[in-house]
Order: sequence, then C-alpha cells, then structure tokens
Amino acid sequence: MGHGRGPHGLRLRITGGLGVLGLEVAQWLAERGARRLVLAGRRGLPPRSTWDEPAEPETRQRIEAVRALEEQGVTVRVVSLDITDTERAAALLAPDALGLPPIRGVVHLAGVLDNKMVTTVQEESLRAVLRPKADGAWALHQLFPPDEVDFFVLFSSCGQLLGLPGQAAYGSANTFLDALAAHRNGAAGASGGTTSFGWTSWRGQGMAVNEVVDSELRARGVRDISAQEAFSAWDFAERRGAGHFPVLRLLADEPDLELPFLSEVHRAKQAAPSAGQGAESFADLAPEELRTRLLEEVGAQIAGEMKLATTQLDHRRSLVEQGLDSVMTIVIRRRLEKRFGQKLPATLLWHQPTVSAISEHLAELLAAPADAATAAPVTAV
Ligand SMILES: NC(=O)c1ccc[n+]([C@@H]2O[C@H](COP(=O)([O-])OP(=O)(O)OC[C@H]3O[C@@H](n4cnc5c(N)ncnc54)[C@H](OP(=O)(O)O)[C@@H]3O)[C@@H](O)[C@H]2O)c1
Repeated sequence: MGHGRGPHGLRLRITGGLGVLGLEVAQWLAERGARRLVLAGRRGLPPRSTWDEPAEPETRQRIEAVRALEEQGVTVRVVSLDITDTERAAALLAPDALGLPPIRGVVHLAGVLDNKMVTTVQEESLRAVLRPKADGAWALHQLFPPDEVDFFVLFSSCGQLLGLPGQAAYGSANTFLDALAAHRNGAAGASGGTTSFGWTSWRGQGMAVNEVVDSELRARGVRDISAQEAFSAWDFAERRGAGHFPVLRLLADEPDLELPFLSEVHRAKQAAPSAGQGAESFADLAPEELRTRLLEEVGAQIAGEMKLATTQLDHRRSLVEQGLDSVMTIVIRRRLEKRFGQKLPATLLWHQPTVSAISEHLAELLAAPADAATAAPVTAV
C-alpha cells in the first residue's frame, strides 16, 4: 500500500472526506507529504466567498479544517458528490474537472449509521446504510481499478467481527468492504494495494460517540483507540502490505472477554468464569426472599436506565409500553449481567418483557448450579 509519490506529490481522493475521521485522515496525509487532496461528501462546503460569515458549528469546523490544510501548502478540492452516483462521480473526479493530475490514492470513509436489531430492521434502513459503504465502494472500485492507483483504503469496522448487536445493516456493509479488499487484492496479486481497516471506535470521534457501542465493546474485552494510535496502526499495516486489518485495543484481563479466536490467551489469564460479584449476595437467600429482592433490584436497575422513579415502574406491565427503547434494552441487559453475574441472552427483554418476568428468569438462573448458570452462552443479534 505504498503511498505513491510522483513528481506532483500525493494525489488522493477521500470520500466522507469532510466527516470527522475524513478530516483527521486528510490532516494526517498532509503531514506525510500529500499536496493535493480531493474531499468528497454529499454536502460539500458553502461558497468560499461566504466562509467568513456565521455558519453552524459543523460547517465552521469543516471550513477551518480545509483552511488549515491550505495553510500547510495543500491544494484541496471539495467536491459535493453522492458517491453512489457513478456517472456524476466519473465526471466530477476526472482530472480536467478537478484541474489536477489523475488521482493516485483513494480513502473511502463515506457511511451513515442506523443501528437496528435484526428483528426490527427494515429494507429502507438496510438500503440507507448499505448504499454509501457498499455501492459507494463498488463505484470507486470501478472508477479506480487496482492497477490505476497506488493505494485504496476502506474504512470498515470491528463490529461484524465481534458480533456487536444492532449492526445488521452496518455489519453487512462493512463486511462488503472487507470482501472487496480481498477481491481487489486477489485480482491484482499481492500488489493490489487495497486495505480494509476493521476499526474499533476512535475515541470521542464521529460515529464512535455512542454509549451503547462502548458498553458492547467493553463486554467483549475491547476498548477504543486514539486517532494517534489509529494512524500508528495504519503505518504498521502499510509496512505489512495490503489486506484486512482489524484494529482493536484488547483488555485481556476483562472477565467477560468473548473473543473466540483469543480464547487461548483468555484461558491462560483466567482460572474459571466467575459468577460475578453481584451474585454472591443472593446465593444464600430462601426462594421467596430471593424473588422479592430480585424484583426490587431489577426494578431499580431498569428504572435507573429509564430515568424513572422506582415507584413509577409497573412490574407487571410491558416495559416497552412504559417507554423502553431498543438502546435502553442493550444497556439494561449489560447492567443486569454485571449486577447479577449472569450471562443473559440478547433476546432477554423480548422473551421477558416485564420486570416480574426478568426477575423470575434471574431467580431460575441464580438457583441453578453455578456451572450450568455461568456456562449459558451470550447470544448477540
Ligand atoms: N468513528 C469511528 O470510531 C469509526 C469506527 C469504525 C469505523 N468507522 C468508519 O469510518 C467512516 C467515517 O466515520 P466518521 O466517524 O468520520 O463519521 P461521519 O463524521 O459521519 O462521516 C461520514 C461521512 O460520510 C459522508 N457520506 C455519507 N453518505 C455519503 C454518500 N452517499 N456519498 C458521499 N459521502 C457520504 C457524510 O457526509 P455527507 O452527509 O455530507 O455526505 C459524512 O461526512 C465510516 O465509514 C465509519 O463506518 C468509524
């Protein structure tokens, strides 16, 4: 994936280039010597003559980022383009239209999020998420075949690798990117120059600002990374050659580590799965007392997440009818797992839709022999 340096310096094309990571990447590439950058996104920027006028914060940030690049001597072309529009892309990215030499490198970051559980995902949502990533990548693949660029980088995610819930569409779109990288490299031999990065969250940046994803990552023993760490990983990958590179920070000591391909490492560090600190205080309770305590505890945990007073929560009424949404579902399951030291299925609130039903389910798990309880698999949808 060598970043070809011709007599004109680096000439790169970044889709999603005005997004949060796109601008980080542009700045990083400029520091590495890129002198001509094309930043493409649907919204583009307002006319330059208005750049000093008041603008909403996101636009202001984009303008200032472009100015900062120009101050470093970089020629920046901002192109307003839906990358799935192949004809328009071909016209707008042609050297004559850009007034630049041909593009020699592509970084594809265009993407949108619409996280839905597989049970609720609709065609419209699937299409919205797949279009910029998969259709967009395919359009770029056709415009910039492997032998016509020095490198082609795709921004994928580690979500599909870890089985993060709610990513039916997003995970599929990113899997397409990973497969496209393999396809391009296969078509062009080892020098295909295409890399797909399976990023964990970039700390506090762009799409990564998401409490649910953070909590799901942590539950799998994975953390976010800083932008600097991401670029170090990029450097490292570049030295290794093109391919698919998941980029994760592992918390190897995390008790709930669920990465099958790291199970050997995990086993060495961990004697036996723990029933969790929270479970100990329930072990000695008589069945009726256990049920009463569970109703109180489960009610308190759920009310806390739903921002309700415990007295406002009806234990026998469906939680969805009381305002529970799909994001709360995920957070609540994790809270209960932590509190009671039990693995709970992703379908928990689907099959046990009330506080009473969840408490009953937990009572059965807590009453079961420890081995059986802790061996229950976590199902991610
Ligand atoms: N942030 C993270 O930690 C993280 C982690 C893993 C992977 N990623 C991947 O990295 C990429 C960038 O993420 P981000 O956090 O920087 O998100 P972001 O700020 O939302 O940037 C995404 C950009 O894509 C552009 N875009 C969307 N649809 C487009 C289309 N049809 N044609 C052209 N541009 C389009 C958007 O601009 P317009 O709306 O103006 O078109 C937006 O600026 C995404 O592909 C994401 O999946 C991010």
